[in-house]
Amino acid sequence: MRRGPAASAPQAKDPPVTKIGIIGSGAIGAEVARLAVAGGIDVLIGNSRGPESLKELVDELGPKAKAVTAAEAAQFGDLVVLAVPLGAYEALPLEALRGRLILSTGNYYPFREGRIEALDSLSTTTAEYEQSLLPESTIVKAFNNIVAHHIPLLAHSTPRTALPVAGDDDEAKRASREVVEALGFDTVDAGSLAESWRFEPESGAYTGIYFAGGYEDYLKDPGAPLPADRLREFLAASHRPDVAAREF
Ligand SMILES: NC(=O)c1ccc[n+]([C@@H]2O[C@H](COP(=O)([O-])OP(=O)(O)OC[C@H]3O[C@@H](n4cnc5c(N)ncnc54)[C@H](OP(=O)(O)O)[C@@H]3O)[C@@H](O)[C@H]2O)c1
Repeated sequence: MRRGPAASAPQAKDPPVTKIGIIGSGAIGAEVARLAVAGGIDVLIGNSRGPESLKELVDELGPKAKAVTAAEAAQFGDLVVLAVPLGAYEALPLEALRGRLILSTGNYYPFREGRIEALDSLSTTTAEYEQSLLPESTIVKAFNNIVAHHIPLLAHSTPRTALPVAGDDDEAKRASREVVEALGFDTVDAGSLAESWRFEPESGAYTGIYFAGGYEDYLKDPGAPLPADRLREFLAASHRPDVAAREF
């Protein structure tokens, strides 16, 4: 029997992720945007100062990216990456974020946010706290345990570098893992938002696990690929930091 090319050749698959919104165009938001456009994903990106402030970044990103308001970014694509300080939450476009899947990269730095009793007392993780601030959105946590300059250095590394992903909604977590994987990383299911302390600042699975050297020459560190099985070990052995004692 003659088999046509369509039957014998591997089928081209549609890219699993085609569009994402990004709120926050700083260190993390810009790096995620760069990976997204490099992976053929359309990006709408917004910040606090408005689209005109993003001209240089979108010129660099090229035709796959467009600068918009934060509200427009919130509504775009499969999910919205939220890369803003915790203190910015009250100024976010809440209506536009209603019902949306949010991949939050945020951490709690008291020097920046001021002290937050619910976090200092360990009654909640940062991700749970964010979820409480945006109760009508679905928060998934990722990209918070890697320093920004390691993101492009370790994306598509050999072996693949894994990032933890935590969330309470299985489907939201699955969709978020798909996005993180499309951006060039493996993922490890790090459990629920309550368990996400395992990769918060000062925990055993925070940014240090991706350093080739130490923190001394921080910005020159080239990063070291971290496969999923090693990340699982770091997560399993992690300790809950004493957040109230945090001095940064
Ligand atoms: N930098 C890192 O290496 C790193 C690593 C892991 C996790 N994180 C965490 O990820 C989050 C983002 O960090 P980052 O370093 O990317 O911060 P960043 O460089 O300071 O950038 C913050 C971005 O948030 C935007 N923003 C602030 N308020 C906003 C609002 N109301 N609406 C829309 N956009 C708003 C800012 O807009 P403008 O540009 O208009 O000011 C800016 O683009 C933080 O929680 C940080 O702790 C950072």
